[in-house]
Amino acid sequence: MKTVTSPTIVRTGEDIRQVVHDAQRVGRRVGVVPTMGALHQGHLSLVDAAREHCDLVVVTVFVNPTQFAPHEDYQRYPRELDSDAAKLAQHGCDYVFAPSVEEMYPDGFETSIDVGSVALPYEGERRPTHFAGVATVVLKLLSLVPADAAFFGQKDYQQTLVVGQMIRDLNVPTDLVVCPTVRESDGLAMSSRNAYLDEDQRQRATALSASMQLAGRMVDRGERDVATLRRAMESHLAEVGGVDVDYIAFVRAGTVEAVETIAGETMVLIAARVGQTRLIDNMQIG
Ligand code: PAJ
Repeated sequence: MKTVTSPTIVRTGEDIRQVVHDAQRVGRRVGVVPTMGALHQGHLSLVDAAREHCDLVVVTVFVNPTQFAPHEDYQRYPRELDSDAAKLAQHGCDYVFAPSVEEMYPDGFETSIDVGSVALPYEGERRPTHFAGVATVVLKLLSLVPADAAFFGQKDYQQTLVVGQMIRDLNVPTDLVVCPTVRESDGLAMSSRNAYLDEDQRQRATALSASMQLAGRMVDRGERDVATLRRAMESHLAEVGGVDVDYIAFVRAGTVEAVETIAGETMVLIAARVGQTRLIDNMQIG
């Protein structure tokens, strides 16, 4: 029988830094998985990747207030540290860093990281303060947990670009590892926010991934015109109904540059509201 050890929960930056420092001093490779908790199989796949590549695995659990706008779901965001720790125990996580808001943002905190153009369109346009909040907290987490590698999900495509830009520009000595999106069996990308959906909304939400798959099949059959692909996705989404599209975008893979025709690796990005719940997803096509 596999022995399962609960991860040690660490609350202060000083303590987690010491843990990482002690491990690295004896040559152990440290991996970190930043999360906001309410862990699902998508998060746990990042933990598995960290476990595979590193000797010591730290998962951070912190619902970061600065990446939520005032009207967003910060208060309502699920907080379930005990069940998160139990799940992490099954995946070989060694330490959970779960700081308080005061630990991360003591009185007098003022700095904010602006990563520039990659943070401006799409999510950045709809959530103007979001990526500064993300970049700032990720830099803080990587300062407190100065891991050799940090594991992020492709599910948040633009976030991976923002974090990559910040790591490069600010010489952060941590490798960024991006892992594939984990989906439910019907294609819906796993997300902590899926818990907000009722049964009917949950069904309709599969239209996001289905519409991107439709675009992918059209590209496989030779379609190259983005306007045509977009129309096909929109009509699929309209047919399903109950999905209020925020944007559909086609960008050159690894960038936020919009393309008009498919030539080479392209990402399709989608954001939509199902009821009150805002969902995002993306897929590579072409
Ligand atoms: P959170 O939404 O909790 O996600 C934590 C990590 O899990 C992110 O890298 C995200 O891309 C990844 N993830 C979420 N759903 C996934 C899925 N279905 N498949 C694969 N990976 C998935 O993203 C954040 O938290 C925050 O912005 C954070 C980076 C922690 C900063 O506060």
